[in-house]
Amino acid sequence: MKVHFVGAGPGDVDLITVKGKRLLEEADLVVYAGSLVNPELLKDLHAELLDSNGLSLEATTSKIIEALRSGKKVVRLHSGDPSLYGAIIEQMKPLEEAGVDVEVVPGVSSLFAASAALKTQLTLKGVSESLIITRPAGTTLEKDELTALGRHGTTLAIFLGIDRIRDIVDSLERPADTPVAVVYHASWPDQKILLGTLGDIAEKVDAARIHRSALIIVGSVLTRKGFRRSHLYRDRQCPER
Ligand SMILES: C[S@@+](CC[C@H](N)C(=O)[O-])C[C@H]1O[C@@H](n2cnc3c(N)ncnc32)[C@H](O)[C@@H]1O
Repeated sequence: MKVHFVGAGPGDVDLITVKGKRLLEEADLVVYAGSLVNPELLKDLHAELLDSNGLSLEATTSKIIEALRSGKKVVRLHSGDPSLYGAIIEQMKPLEEAGVDVEVVPGVSSLFAASAALKTQLTLKGVSESLIITRPAGTTLEKDELTALGRHGTTLAIFLGIDRIRDIVDSLERPADTPVAVVYHASWPDQKILLGTLGDIAEKVDAARIHRSALIIVGSVLTRKGFRRSHLYRDRQCPER
């Protein structure tokens, strides 16, 4: 018995992996993660479809095990890449305890769809060579570390926080002119990009009425300036790697 945890990608149906798409087409049961999975991806499948939103972990687990026991192929479809805020381990554990084998198929995270939309790099030589991926406190996290993480001065990618944008900008101890981008529904047809600074982004988000499905990216990589050329193209005689 084997279940595949598949990354659906950020929204654009062409941004699922070839393997993920094949597994979806072959599946008899697809348990998918609510509104962040583009319904277009599910449209022509022969599989039974089950939205996991509102279902308990126990209910989802028994549905999957029941299907596998009757010889069905099962895909658990997650938005973006399953390893980022996907809560997959808590789902895998009871399945593994029941003797189910699990395979994870990676996906394109919304973070990478957002950086593509912004036509920037998240790490940029001479600007920020590091990336911190985090989230503010919320329903499932009591205390966040935004202030401390923000002090590192690296690129910050903040998931699950657009409804708390004011608290987030207030908690970041960086200059008010620090560049910030908000990308709503990255790669979807209704994608929106807001560019601003720590000083004005909250106002822009309020005006655009964005309350969900958005990423906040903070840092000078957004300006696409001030970088040093990489060694990749410097000397064709002596490549670094
Ligand atoms: C439960 S997390 C899932 C993240 C997902 N595993 C990924 O790799 O993109 C949901 C959060 O991801 C972000 N998100 C997911 N899809 C998005 C998209 N297409 N555009 C912007 N942000 C998105 C939002 O911050 C949202 O609140």
